[in-house]
Amino acid sequence: MKRTLQAPTNSSPRTISIHCGRDKSLTHRAIMFASLSEGRSQILHPLLGADCLSSISCFEALGVKILVHGEERVEVESKGFTQFQQPTVPLDCGNSGTTARLILGILAAQKGLTFQLIGDESLSKRPMKRVVIPLRKMGAKISGPDDGNFLPLTIEGQDLKAMKHLVDKASAQVKSCLLLAGMFAEGQTSVTLPKGSRDHTERVLQKMGANLSSFVTVDEEHIDLTGPFKTKAMDVSIPVDPSSAAFFAVLGLLLTQGGIAMPDVLDNPTRTGFMKVLGRMSQGLTFTKAASQSFVEPVGLLIVKGGLELTGTDIEEDEVPSLVDEIPILSVAAAFAKGPSLFRGLSELRVKESDRLLLTAALLEAAGAEHEIRGDDLWIAGGLKEVKPFTFDPEGDHRLAMSAAILARRSKKPCCILDSECVRVSFPNFYEALDTVDQF
Ligand code: S3P
Repeated sequence: MKRTLQAPTNSSPRTISIHCGRDKSLTHRAIMFASLSEGRSQILHPLLGADCLSSISCFEALGVKILVHGEERVEVESKGFTQFQQPTVPLDCGNSGTTARLILGILAAQKGLTFQLIGDESLSKRPMKRVVIPLRKMGAKISGPDDGNFLPLTIEGQDLKAMKHLVDKASAQVKSCLLLAGMFAEGQTSVTLPKGSRDHTERVLQKMGANLSSFVTVDEEHIDLTGPFKTKAMDVSIPVDPSSAAFFAVLGLLLTQGGIAMPDVLDNPTRTGFMKVLGRMSQGLTFTKAASQSFVEPVGLLIVKGGLELTGTDIEEDEVPSLVDEIPILSVAAAFAKGPSLFRGLSELRVKESDRLLLTAALLEAAGAEHEIRGDDLWIAGGLKEVKPFTFDPEGDHRLAMSAAILARRSKKPCCILDSECVRVSFPNFYEALDTVDQF
């Protein structure tokens, strides 16, 4: 569906409270750990985005009973992984890289069962060798196009061997996949990788009592997990996704007056890099830690105020893992900033749901914002005063569609986003939330 957006005309100086979508990464992990555990688990305030529904459908195909009670809770009733059934249909990961890469670590270890893993057109172009190669070293049998680099993949479950992995990317999906596989292997599975990727899997495993330890050096992190480890059924509550809040954080800073408040936002330094960047760009952002915890992680209240000048800033390569999904919306902020910004080391963006580096540049171009891709870096001139009315095709990439919608808020003329509904992947209520911000 195509959607037309432009700046509203109300100039009231209110601070609006927005309930952004719940956390995608945590909902995936909650579904997976609950499905592996024997007993009944409840996931309170889950994200019911298309990606998480893909994770649910995969575990249902393995015989796990999963009841979705609206946005309030998901109930998972499992007999544990030892009772997973031979699926009669391919496991469909849809658009979800997290489902595909994490579940591979689980499926590879289910001896006696064979699985087909499929996904949509975008996911079928995303590289899987980053997990398939290390899993094969543990004894996994996985085959598919380009020697197992792309879906559809066939996985024949095996007994896996614990081993040491050296990973060359700061990728939470790779790290999590290998730790999940390590849960089924006898002995110590170690993962060493460049530091900074999200640490939710480690936190949940520790919370569940796994023998897991980790440490960081100047530029690497190292995790040891002793297997086998059996997870326990538990009730968890999912906080607001900082990656979803980032869109409204930028919108709030771009308002001429008033502001936006977002409660219950996940407070984890491996996820909130965008707040540091916006903090360098503006005085208008505050984050206050809340007393309560959600799931196994703390939360806080994010407030952004409009009417203040934004200043351009640089993002260094080692910051990228903590804001890897926020580059498109940070680029929108940089377009309006005083002075240039240079975002360095964005090679991983090329293998996300789209080539996000190219598509972010295409969005800036369409809006009339001066920019340049320099190798794997993105330079943005800043100083954009007036957004050119644009028509933009996000190519099914939810984060590009939402970035375009925020950008369109600064256009005096209507802008058009094609396939605007792709936001359902991570933030199904995005446009409803956007409509509640009725001032410019
Ligand atoms: C995710 C990890 C990140 C992120 C993705 C979700 C996760 O990918 O981009 O949206 O839940 O583990 P990488 O770990 O591949 O960078």
